[in-house]
Amino acid sequence: MLRPLQKSDLPAVMAIENAVHIAPWTEDAFKTCFQSGYTGWVMEAEQQILGFIIVSMTEVECHILNLCVMQSHQRQGLGRQLLQYALTEAKQRKIGIAYLEVRRSNAGAIALYQTLGFRLVGERKRYYPGVPENEDALVFARSLSSC
Ligand SMILES: CC(C)(COP(=O)(O)OP(=O)(O)OC[C@H]1O[C@@H](n2cnc3c(N)ncnc32)[C@H](O)[C@@H]1OP(=O)(O)O)[C@@H](O)C(=O)NCCC(=O)NCCS
Repeated sequence: MLRPLQKSDLPAVMAIENAVHIAPWTEDAFKTCFQSGYTGWVMEAEQQILGFIIVSMTEVECHILNLCVMQSHQRQGLGRQLLQYALTEAKQRKIGIAYLEVRRSNAGAIALYQTLGFRLVGERKRYYPGVPENEDALVFARSLSSC
C-alpha cells in the first residue's frame, strides 16, 4: 500500500535510509523536509515501511530529493512504483518537469530513472561530499507531459 509520509514514520524511514545509503540523510534533514512542506509517500506492507520517496514541488517543477527501498525488498518494483506515483501526482498538479541528482556510481538508480524516461541533462562536479574525494552528481530530467 502506498500512502503519504507522516512525521511518525521518521524512525522507520531513517532505519531504511541508514541501511542503504552511502551517505544517509540526518534526522535534521528529514525534519527540514517536514518543516518545508515537502511531499513524501511510503510503501507499506503489513504495517512495515518498505520504502519511501520525498519530493519538492513548485508550480513548475518536481525535484526528486530521496528515493529509498529496504535492501531485502529491492528489485521487486517498489522503487519504480514510488517514483511513478510521485510523477503522476506532479502531473496532476500541472507541473511540467521532474528532475533529480544521482551519484555517478549509482548504476542501479540510474537504470531505474532511465526506464522511467529520465534523460541525462547535466552534471554537478564534486556535488556529494566524500572521503577521500567528492563524487559528481548526474542530473536527470523528464517532461511530465507523457507520464
Ligand atoms: C535505487 C532504488 C530506489 C531502486 O529501487 P528498487 O525497488 O530496487 O527498484 P525496482 O525494483 O523498482 O527497479 C525497477 C527497474 O530499475 C532498474 N534497476 C533497479 N535497480 C537496479 C540495479 N541495482 N541494477 C540494475 N538495474 C536496476 C531495473 O531496470 C529494474 O527493472 P527490473 O528489475 O525489471 O530489471 C534502490 O536500489 C535503493 O533504495 N537504493 C539505495 C538508495 C538509492 O540509491 N536511492 C537513489 C538515489 S537517491
